[in-house]
Amino acid sequence: MLRILLADPLAYDAAFDAVLAELAPHVETYRWPDGPADGRYDVLAAWRLPDGFGVVSDSVKLVFCFGAGADHLLADPRLPAHPPVVRLLDAGQAAQLVDYAHHVAFARLQNDQKYLDDQRRHLWDPAPSLKRTRATTRVAVLGLGPIGTDVATALAATGFAVRAWSRRPRRLEGIDTSAGAEGLPDCVRSADVLVNLLPLHPQTADLLGEPLFSLLADGAYVANLGRGGHLDELALRGALDSGRIGCAWIDAFGEEPLPSSHWLWTHDRVRLTPHVGGLPTPAGSARSLAAAIAAYRAGAPLPGLVRAAAATRDTA
Ligand code: GLV
Repeated sequence: MLRILLADPLAYDAAFDAVLAELAPHVETYRWPDGPADGRYDVLAAWRLPDGFGVVSDSVKLVFCFGAGADHLLADPRLPAHPPVVRLLDAGQAAQLVDYAHHVAFARLQNDQKYLDDQRRHLWDPAPSLKRTRATTRVAVLGLGPIGTDVATALAATGFAVRAWSRRPRRLEGIDTSAGAEGLPDCVRSADVLVNLLPLHPQTADLLGEPLFSLLADGAYVANLGRGGHLDELALRGALDSGRIGCAWIDAFGEEPLPSSHWLWTHDRVRLTPHVGGLPTPAGSARSLAAAIAAYRAGAPLPGLVRAAAATRDTA
């Protein structure tokens, strides 16, 4: 029987168990720090290896990243090189990020930051010239993986003027897309809202920095829903202080929890959320894990593959 070691607290949930039991029968599940007596398991499910996890058993045949972004796991030297790594595909998680992006886009539409600043100063300053519509609010979405695709599509369906960018060319019905380094300026130029949903790797690190900020519309809102490593914090601070960027919504940080002395906590133009923009849902994550296990058992292509098995990579 396939043994699964669950090492993410979001999996320690009755709804998760029920869906997994239904869709992946004939498995033995363990919840870290409990595990099989001989320390050997076939599937490891974790977003990051918990503190104190120790070494990963060399018996592991499949690693399931309990999140959309596998950067933490892939960078962990304890992860053996041989097993394939798949990531979570959870429509319920994506739906939360769709809502977050809408929240920011509507905040821009309503000039949220200006009227908050005015309220703090007891200033009655209606500004009809700032009145916007959805159709004239330009939203740039970076990243067209499953989540970015849902976000861009939903914002466009709501009526925002959406452009989207990905590293490799992608087509999306009714959305202006561009790709590659040369396509990035086309996506972000004059954008009123920038939503980052990219995966983090060396080509995307620090992408949210001055060169990109300088292309946005004056007072644009920036939402970093990717990783802290995407954001050049110093450049953000300068752009916020000058008013070049009107407001930053940040859900992911280089260091988490964010140290209490960090300037982001107290900046008037920053709204921060503690990496809760898109939490894996119990049912969605169990379904995704069950689908990965079924594909693994059938020898079929693994859904959400982010790193192929070592042998496949060697012969690729
Ligand atoms: C969240 O950051 C995730 O990787 O799912």
